Amino acid sequence: MSSNNAEVRRVVPPNEAMTEGSNGTSTHTPQTFEPAEIVKPSGEPILEALHLKKDFPLRAIKLFGPAQAVHAVEDTSLALYPGKATALVGESGSGKTTVARLLGRLYELTSGEIRFKGVPVTKGHGAMRIYRRHVQYIFQDPFSSLNPVHGVRYHLARSLRLYGYVRNADEERQQILALLERVNLTPAEHFIDKFPHQLSGGQRQRVAIARTLAVRPSVILADEPVSMLDVSIRLDILNLLLRLKDEDGLAFLFITHDIASARYFAEETLVMYAGQLVEGGPTEEVIQQPQHPYSQLLLSAAPDPDTMGHRQAAKMAVDMGNGTEARVNTGEAIPYVRGEPPSLINPPGGCRFHPRCPYAMPVCSQYRPPRTDLGNGHWTHCFLYSKREEAPEKDRVVP
Ligand SMILES: Nc1ncnc2c1ncn2[C@@H]1O[C@H](COP(=O)(O)OP(=O)(O)O)[C@@H](O)[C@H]1O
Ligand code: SF4
Ligand SMILES: [Mg+2]
Repeated sequence: MSSNNAEVRRVVPPNEAMTEGSNGTSTHTPQTFEPAEIVKPSGEPILEALHLKKDFPLRAIKLFGPAQAVHAVEDTSLALYPGKATALVGESGSGKTTVARLLGRLYELTSGEIRFKGVPVTKGHGAMRIYRRHVQYIFQDPFSSLNPVHGVRYHLARSLRLYGYVRNADEERQQILALLERVNLTPAEHFIDKFPHQLSGGQRQRVAIARTLAVRPSVILADEPVSMLDVSIRLDILNLLLRLKDEDGLAFLFITHDIASARYFAEETLVMYAGQLVEGGPTEEVIQQPQHPYSQLLLSAAPDPDTMGHRQAAKMAVDMGNGTEARVNTGEAIPYVRGEPPSLINPPGGCRFHPRCPYAMPVCSQYRPPRTDLGNGHWTHCFLYSKREEAPEKDRVVP
């Protein structure tokens, strides 16, 4: 599916680096179109998120007690690699969009760090401008992502001009036509002067993708890019994104609540619950052998025929060292799970899934479970797979 071993040709503007002048201004100079650079996908991540945290303060006036906030994302780390896709799955409200918006620098971090090519991303205008060229966002809603008063030509020309990729009107038209062809809007001449209201949802999403490609990104943050489209064209758009990923060696964060499309699209899958990552690893492993009780719940709700009858509930014999007996479940179906996802204003301490978890133990509400590596790049945060002593003291719940 990916072209990790192949050399990928990608056109990049010259003189670009993630650097910033000492006065906060960019050293970037918009340049005209230049020959392509050969980008060799490597084993190094292109974009890394380290311990991201996002609180949204509540504006309501509160006379007593500490100010309240929605704790939308907590201690979230991930890495994206050229030519590879990472799916972020979880129920609505679990924090997926917030993670993508933090990575796109559309939201300020409460804490944590984002690194692009190993360099921490700074806030200055120049550095941010370059970062935004490299890291592009595809929105869920193709109906609101295009400006209804402007045509296709305007949307694409704007991106091309912003980064100095075109020298004259003729070059601009040629590049717009080429972009439309890349996203299969053909004949391109037929689409270049259309307005958003003259296009279907799928065609609009293709224009939005072409606009993203116009700035020649390295990373794409695709937030449920097909969920608002007609079922009949979802696969076409996914295939288009897959082709672009391989052709341009793009790193993808692919957000979805649909397990089947995560499986189709992404080499790696991360599972998010109530603002925290609970499990991650190679997609096939996470989907065929989910280990965290929440992942098992999520997968049990997914109508994926390949996973039917293969769900594996926690099959562990762990001596917690605190008198807690290990929970063993070798059955096909997971036990009944109570309740709803928690409020993120006062999320449960320790493991945020503990009020709903059929395997919950006392330690689960006392400490945040540490990350346990399960082998082959598969990991989880769950006390079924770790001991209380492995949880750092900073992750103890303060009563
Ligand atoms: N701008 C905001 N202000 C306050 N709360 C927000 C804001 N954006 C998202 N949230 C809250 O953060 C949580 C995570 O939301 P979101 O990232 O949109 O989840 P998902 O994309 O998984 O559905 C939700 O409880 C949501 O209500
Ligand atoms: S840490 Fe405890 S409550 Fe959380 S998923 Fe694991 S067993 Fe369940
Ligand atoms: Mg969302």
